[in-house]
Amino acid sequence: MFGRISARYDLLNTVMSGGRHHAWRRTASRLATDGLEGAALDVAAGTGDFAISLALRPSVSHVVGLDSTDAMLDRAWSKLRRGGLTRSVSLVLGDAHHLPFPDDHFAAATVGFGIRNFADVGRALREMARVVRPGGRVAALEIVRLTGRSPLSLVFPVYFRRVTPLLGTALAGDRAAYTYLPESVEKFHSAEEVGAMMEEAGLKIIDVRKRALGSVAILVGERPRTRQ
Ligand SMILES: C[S@@+](CC[C@H](N)C(=O)[O-])C[C@H]1O[C@@H](n2cnc3c(N)ncnc32)[C@H](O)[C@@H]1O
Repeated sequence: MFGRISARYDLLNTVMSGGRHHAWRRTASRLATDGLEGAALDVAAGTGDFAISLALRPSVSHVVGLDSTDAMLDRAWSKLRRGGLTRSVSLVLGDAHHLPFPDDHFAAATVGFGIRNFADVGRALREMARVVRPGGRVAALEIVRLTGRSPLSLVFPVYFRRVTPLLGTALAGDRAAYTYLPESVEKFHSAEEVGAMMEEAGLKIIDVRKRALGSVAILVGERPRTRQ
């Protein structure tokens, strides 16, 4: 599916987030890397925006972007070339459930709008925690299910379910892919549930930021310095 929509993926992100998605990744990159020196990993890197945002952080020495879809990485590579960033970012075709990196390797790992797509979120989060060194961080940026009984939590899923497929058809020519998106969000977790899964993966949640009226969350977990 991501191969099919790769050409229009960035445009849809911009339209659906009201142009805010770059700012969300910048915030997540800052929270993931502030005060940490070393290499960073972006899992489910897609067209490369999160990896680019990490590469622009002053303390980050190198970024690896990993994704399982060739066509998304091709887009990312074109962007890196245009931005003169091919030395700062490497791209790897791979699976989030089996990260091809040794333990304790990175200062930070991020995942943006990716964990919703993983077959086994717990396993992918454990992999991210494994490859980050003690004291390092894992940050997840994700569309989350709204909780509670606020009017927005009732209206948002209806809006999202109706409008997203229309945008997908109009801008990406792919109604099915953009019907899957709102369906996957409804099946997905609240920010609190994502935080609990990160804690189960061995991370201590140190920051949670909400954006877009609470429908988008940035969660930052730290790998404890001593094994627990
Ligand atoms: C919605 S896109 C997110 C792209 C990017 N992180 C962003 O912030 O825009 C989800 C990406 O997850 C990738 N993906 C899905 N399952 C994966 C897996 N098991 N391992 C690695 N990447 C995966 C897809 O190929 C796709 O590029």
